[in-house]
Parts: sequence; C-alpha cells; structure tokens
Amino acid sequence: MGVLPLVLLSGSLFLCGRVAALSSAMDVLKQDAVQWNGSLTCSKWDCDCPFYRQRGCCCAANEMYQVEEESFKRIKYLWQKIISLNSSVNSLSDGFKVSFKATMIPNMAIEIPGTTERCFGPFNTNVPIPFPQVTLNSGNGYNPSMGVFTALCPGVYMFSFTTFSSVGEGGRLYHKVQLMKNGRMVVSVWENNREDAEDSATQVVVMEMRRGDQVYLELLSGRKLCTNMEYNIFTGHIVYPYTV
Ligand SMILES: *[C@@H]1O[C@H](CO)[C@@H](O)[C@H](O)[C@H]1NC(C)=O
Ligand SMILES: *[C@@H]1O[C@H](CO)[C@@H](O)[C@H](O)[C@H]1NC(C)=O
Repeated sequence: MGVLPLVLLSGSLFLCGRVAALSSAMDVLKQDAVQWNGSLTCSKWDCDCPFYRQRGCCCAANEMYQVEEESFKRIKYLWQKIISLNSSVNSLSDGFKVSFKATMIPNMAIEIPGTTERCFGPFNTNVPIPFPQVTLNSGNGYNPSMGVFTALCPGVYMFSFTTFSSVGEGGRLYHKVQLMKNGRMVVSVWENNREDAEDSATQVVVMEMRRGDQVYLELLSGRKLCTNMEYNIFTGHIVYPYTV
C-alpha cells in the first residue's frame, strides 16, 4: 500500500526528465505498481502510462513536448515573417508618400532694359528654372533652391508643368520650357508668335525613375517667361514604387 505513492513520485521525478535507464530498484517498484489492484489516485489518462509505456509523466507528455517544440519553431518562423512583412509594408507605404508642388515667384521676373517687359530670361544659355515657392514636398525629394526633383525611391512617376507668359501689346511670346531627366529632354512646351500677347500650356508625363534620377525644367537659351511668374507650376508624384 505504501509503495504506490513512492512510485508515482519517483515516476514524476525521473520519467519527466526523460531518464532512460532505471535502476533495478525502480523496476521492482514498477512491478509492484503495475500489479496494484486498488484505484489510482489520479485520473486514468496520465497515471497508468509511466508504468505500462514508460514514456513520461502522462500519456501525452511526449506529444506535448513535440507540439510545444513545433509550435515554438512555427511561432519563431512566423515572427520572422511578420517582421520582414512589416518592413516591406513600411517601405511600400513610405514609397507612396512622394509628391511635390512648386511655383515660380514674382521677383524672378526682372525688367528687360529698354522695354516695359518684366521677364525671367532671356539668358544666353539654357538655364534650369528654380521653383522656389513650395506648397507640397512629401518625401523631401524636391529641392526648391535648384528646382530639381530627385527620386529617392525607384518607381513610376508622373510630372506636370504649366508655363505661362504674357507680354505687352506688340510684344513677342517667345519661350520654350523643357522637362529634363538626368540632363536629357523628355517633353517640352513652346511659343513663338506675335498674334496674341499671353498664353499658357501644360505638359504631363509618366515615366520610370530609378533611385537618384533627377528631373527639372529648363528655359531655352534666348527665350523668356514674362509676367505672373506664379502661374508657372511644376508638380510631380509617384504613381507606384518598385519594391524589391
Ligand atoms: C492483485 O490481484 C492479483 C489477482 O487478482 C493478485 O495475484 C496480486 O497479488 C494482487 N496484487 C496486489 C499488489 O495485491
Ligand atoms: C512595424 O513597423 C512599425 C513602423 O516602423 C513599428 O512601429 C512597429 O513596431 C513594427 N511592428 C513589428 C511587429 O515589428
């Protein structure tokens, strides 16, 4: 009668720890326990296993260890996946926050000597046009002092610009503004006539940008934009970023 609790105790001490070899004393105790005719002091599912199958404190112990181990591995794997998914989502959502809008400002127009026209230009070389008044610059890709947009994230982008020029009676509208990507012209708008005194035009372009690609607007040599500088607008935004 006194043997069983000891066996249960020894069982839980040794078998839980997965001790393979049992002493002969333990074998004797075990035999006694196996032959025990009375009722067991704990529920069936755990108490007879150590004696008949010798796998652990309870029938399910090994399975539970296994489940525990596999669950742990899976949780670890899933956690790593979550972390890397999180960083993909972060870079994707950061990549979408790229847009700018900038305009020229009135004091960029100066009086052309001998005329009443106030213009930006003409210059004797092509010049990049600065758009210093910035009302939007998400992602800080646009540099207002240079008028240059730099793609920090590769992807597909859309750019638009509107040029406006107004000259006096008998004056000549004479401008050509071109959108440059890495020093090469992509699209342009131009005007060369004496039939009307003011005109505006808009261009929109969609293009791929690699990281570091630069876009800006250029006024062609010898040409001018006159009056209402603030009607000249340069905008851009990402359509979708490329993700690695
Ligand atoms: C249990 O019962 C069997 C037969 O019914 C008997 O041979 C055995 O000695 C009993 N064991 C104990 C520990 O009383
Ligand atoms: C996911 O990224 C955000 C932004 O960096 C961070 O605040 C958050 O803690 C991250 N979550 C996990 C589970 O890493």
